[in-house]
Amino acid sequence: MPDNRQIQDYIRPIVDFPKEGIVFRDVTTLFASPRGFRMAVDQLLHPYAGTRFDKVVGLEARGFILGGAVAHQLSAGFVPIRKKGKLPAATIAESYTLEYGEAVVEIHDDAIAPGERVLLVDDLLATGGTAEAGIKLVERLGGEIIGCAFLVDLPDLGGRARLEGLGMDVHALCA
Ligand code: PRP
Ligand code: ADE
Repeated sequence: MPDNRQIQDYIRPIVDFPKEGIVFRDVTTLFASPRGFRMAVDQLLHPYAGTRFDKVVGLEARGFILGGAVAHQLSAGFVPIRKKGKLPAATIAESYTLEYGEAVVEIHDDAIAPGERVLLVDDLLATGGTAEAGIKLVERLGGEIIGCAFLVDLPDLGGRARLEGLGMDVHALCA
């Protein structure tokens, strides 16, 4: 029998995690599926066929898993954006608010060279606060964001509109 499962069918909703009222989209079930993970990486790459990237920037934590696979396929370098205090060398930082909290993210200050072409990757776009902080970090280093790619877009939380308002090209696989 053919397997017709789509990306969203592999993602497990967890009600009231990490706090009441949040339906957490658990993508570990997608990553654990050989078919699901391959489909996800292939579909994330699809709009960028023939586009050259120097770096893929992945947002902690699930953006590392996707971003690493995507960077390998693009023959690009991979650069992590991490929560404050995790990166060992000199960093620059941006603070932001989340659907359920506040945080600071950092990038190594030599991770992107001026003019480098960047694809930003994360698992999920909610308010867009995390992605906007990532965009600002890359742009402060002189990088050019060519695209922002996500598995899940929660449009009611406004992230897509927020990023498109910054002039970003946003690509997401499911809502
Ligand atoms: C989640 C998700 C995105 C971010 C999206 O990460 O992986 O990075 O939230 O939310 P936003 O669009 O409202 O900014 P989380 O902050 O839970 O961190 P983690 O990946 O380290 O668990
Ligand atoms: N980050 C912000 N909102 C989220 C959600 N509903 N599921 C997973 N990650 C998230």
